[in-house]
Amino acid sequence: MGGVMLAFLSCLLAGAMVVQGEDPYLFFTWNITYGTISPLGVPQQGILINGQFPGPNINSTTNNNIVINVFNNLDEPFLLSWSGIQHRKNSWQDGVLGTNCPIPPGKNYTYHFQVKDQIGSYYYYPTTSCAQGIRPDGVLINGKSGKGKGKDEPLFTMKPGKTYRYRICNVGIKTSLNFRIQGHAMKLVEMEGSHTVQNVYNSLDVHVGQCYSVLVTANQAPKDYYMVASSRFTKSILTTTAIIRYANSKGAPASSVLPEAPVGWAWSLNQFRSFRWNLTASAARPNPQGSYHYGSINITRTIKIVNSVSRVDGKLRYAINGVSHTDSATPLKLAEYYGVADKVFKYDTIEDEPPTKGADKITLQPNVLNATFRNFVEIIFENHQKSIQSWHLDGYSFFPVAKNDVHQLIYLIDVASNSIEPGRWSPERRKNYNLLDAVSRHTIQVYPKSWAAIFLTFDNAGMWNLRSELFERQYLGQQLYISVLSPARSLRDEYNMPDNAELCGIVKDLPKPPPYSI
Ligand SMILES: *[C@@H]1O[C@H](CO)[C@@H](O)[C@H](O)[C@H]1NC(C)=O
Ligand SMILES: *[C@@H]1O[C@H](CO)[C@@H](O)[C@H](O)[C@H]1NC(C)=O
Ligand SMILES: *[C@@H]1O[C@H](CO)[C@@H](O)[C@H](O)[C@H]1NC(C)=O
Ligand SMILES: *[C@@H]1O[C@H](CO)[C@@H](O)[C@H](O)[C@H]1NC(C)=O
Ligand SMILES: *[C@@H]1O[C@H](CO)[C@@H](O)[C@H](O)[C@H]1NC(C)=O
Ligand SMILES: *[C@@H]1O[C@H](CO)[C@@H](O)[C@H](O)[C@H]1NC(C)=O
Repeated sequence: MGGVMLAFLSCLLAGAMVVQGEDPYLFFTWNITYGTISPLGVPQQGILINGQFPGPNINSTTNNNIVINVFNNLDEPFLLSWSGIQHRKNSWQDGVLGTNCPIPPGKNYTYHFQVKDQIGSYYYYPTTSCAQGIRPDGVLINGKSGKGKGKDEPLFTMKPGKTYRYRICNVGIKTSLNFRIQGHAMKLVEMEGSHTVQNVYNSLDVHVGQCYSVLVTANQAPKDYYMVASSRFTKSILTTTAIIRYANSKGAPASSVLPEAPVGWAWSLNQFRSFRWNLTASAARPNPQGSYHYGSINITRTIKIVNSVSRVDGKLRYAINGVSHTDSATPLKLAEYYGVADKVFKYDTIEDEPPTKGADKITLQPNVLNATFRNFVEIIFENHQKSIQSWHLDGYSFFPVAKNDVHQLIYLIDVASNSIEPGRWSPERRKNYNLLDAVSRHTIQVYPKSWAAIFLTFDNAGMWNLRSELFERQYLGQQLYISVLSPARSLRDEYNMPDNAELCGIVKDLPKPPPYSI
């Protein structure tokens, strides 16, 4: 078993997970400090966990309870989030600024969550103190940039004839990557927590925030081979390499001819269309009843989301349906739990339809949608811009149902004719939905001038972040929270606020509300 992480940026850290079994506890103590790292050859300040960059991997099993005591030894507040971990009933552990107060300098906070019914590879990342780390001028594989020219130590060694599982995540902040291995095909077996139909690929486009597992068999001549990660859809292509060595290679170097990257959007889209959920794989999966039959449930609500960019008081902001999210001093979830939501934010800041007039007008405020517990909804992401988007929802897996075939064609016509009629969603597009075997996942890319549609059931009570995975966009407002309240205030639906929760803002000195009932 090998672990692979693709990182585009130093401030993002990587972790791997999960197989099968009982419910034991895994305990960790993490010491967060500054340290000097040189992933691109130039020394820079980075954030270390127990002296390591990237941070430690957590190797756990389905349903394990994970307890991580995080000591913030930085001189600024710090918070970690766990992308794709579902935290059933427990947005208290999500570690985003709408649910948790950041850990103050010199203090610690103990995360406690269960990887309930989950398999796959996930990553964690700081939701604070990330801004200063931004230097998107290199591609890293496991925190390193390859020097090439056969000078690198092997990242992995394979025994001839054996098959290895590689976990590939794009934990970057901006750029889609293509990943490939010289001379070796990759059999896709898992994607963001779901087993896939096992197609074989020579290369894979991995958009920001996405994770895959592939099987690679060491069935080639015994020597070194390059793994290659290169940027997609960028003006100049950034490439890095790492070495895989055959154990019996006797120092035979890798060929200097790197496998070529695919070109263009259509290739990427076709690959996306080839991904299918494996309906016969027996494995833990969240919400098995709902997920097997997602195609036969009636939609109760359609939320259409359009991203936009504008300047507000001269400053760049990104928005969803005209609202650019700002974090409040009191986390939204705490305000809601303490019954003082009205002092901190408004529910339903945006409509389910984007405004048709004044689309460029942006207001700044906490952006909160409220959803009805257990409702089955459709969310449409329409991207009117010329760059690719990548969206992620905390607390859930969803089904991307659009097959995306028609709109790409429209996009190509759009480019050629310069028409202003780009790919837009309309209800008749539903006729083309994949209602059978869309891969249940937590991240979805949306191509330029295109759209995507997802189905999900809001069955996980909590306050959940829907955000752009592109860091600048998320940081400058392209995110919102979905409040999913169980009216019963029952422990069957949601856990109580943990006793060790850090308190801040207006709830700091308020009396604790009565706990949820059984
Ligand atoms: C964390 O690391 C710092 C710097 O090395 C050290 O001073 C501190 O004692 C460590 N704290 C813990 C809890 O290990
Ligand atoms: C994770 O743990 C399992 C069980 O202990 C072990 O077989 C496996 O090799 C470990 N994987 C990694 C990547 O450490
Ligand atoms: C901080 O760490 C100590 C152990 O050193 C632990 O007892 C305490 O519960 C932790 N605090 C929080 C808020 O998790
Ligand atoms: C589905 O997964 C199982 C392993 O769990 C595998 O044996 C089977 O070949 C997969 N099906 C397809 C169509 O890839
Ligand atoms: C879905 O809606 C259709 C038409 O309104 C109705 O006939 C059907 O019973 C509904 N199905 C479910 C499962 O509620
Ligand atoms: C949203 O929450 C507010 C405040 O609790 C409530 O008045 C409103 O009915 C909710 N709306 C929906 C659609 O659940």
